[in-house]
Amino acid sequence: MGFLKDKVVVITGGASGIGRVSAKIFGAENANVIVWDLKTEKVSDEIHIYNVDVRNSDSVQEATRIAIEKFGQIDVLINNAGITQDASLLKMSDQQWRDVLDVNLTGVFNCTKSVAPHMIEEKFGRIINTSSVVGLYGNYGQTNYAASKAGVIGMTKVWARELAPKGITVNAVAPGFISTNMMKTIPKKILDTIIEKTPVGRLGIPEDVANVYLFLASEKASFINGAVISVDGGYVG
Ligand SMILES: NC(=O)c1ccc[n+]([C@@H]2O[C@H](COP(=O)([O-])OP(=O)(O)OC[C@H]3O[C@@H](n4cnc5c(N)ncnc54)[C@H](O)[C@@H]3O)[C@@H](O)[C@H]2O)c1
Repeated sequence: MGFLKDKVVVITGGASGIGRVSAKIFGAENANVIVWDLKTEKVSDEIHIYNVDVRNSDSVQEATRIAIEKFGQIDVLINNAGITQDASLLKMSDQQWRDVLDVNLTGVFNCTKSVAPHMIEEKFGRIINTSSVVGLYGNYGQTNYAASKAGVIGMTKVWARELAPKGITVNAVAPGFISTNMMKTIPKKILDTIIEKTPVGRLGIPEDVANVYLFLASEKASFINGAVISVDGGYVG
């Protein structure tokens, strides 16, 4: 307990799934947790949740201003918000392509660009970007998602170089298949195949990813920068 006492942590997409569990875990470590999400359903009494659309730079800048006004600083940014819109290449519409890139790639750019100046001022920051096993290996029907999640890795590597001299580390987490709403559309037969290809022999749970976010956010991770940490049970696609 108290692993992150008094740190101010922004988690995008923290109203459900991995982000929601992360918000609770960070709260239990005495961090001040701020969630930016399209949904504003209460997470718990201690979590501050705001309606923010990460696609919209004005919305993100306003949320940053509010966070700084309330807490004076932002120590940790977890760019966790993400969506899928699956279709095979020939069936993928321009809209599906744009929708996924707008949230998963532009959203990460918007939030980091807005928050980083405040971290630079404090000479401290931890930025954690959520990629995916799909960004590393690809996946059938996910041209848009794979492009966005591979792009997140690229941005992580750039920012790790640009921001580390200013006291900020930037890393990516690449979850495997984790039981959340995002997985609800996947047929059982495919889930069984995924489990077969996972040496640990199960799907992930949100806590598996949240605990890695927590470690990367902590002082103990100060020499990890520009890394992509897989949290996938050893999945081999
Ligand atoms: N579940 C998995 O198997 C899995 C695997 C690899 C990576 N990931 C990644 O982990 C992250 C979390 O996924 P999850 O499984 O918890 O999904 P989820 O759908 O449960 O949660 C995603 C959250 O992002 C929010 N969101 C969507 N668009 C937004 C926007 N424009 N602005 C602000 N918030 C927005 C949603 O409202 C939702 O609360 C995502 O980036 C996802 O791509 C998930």
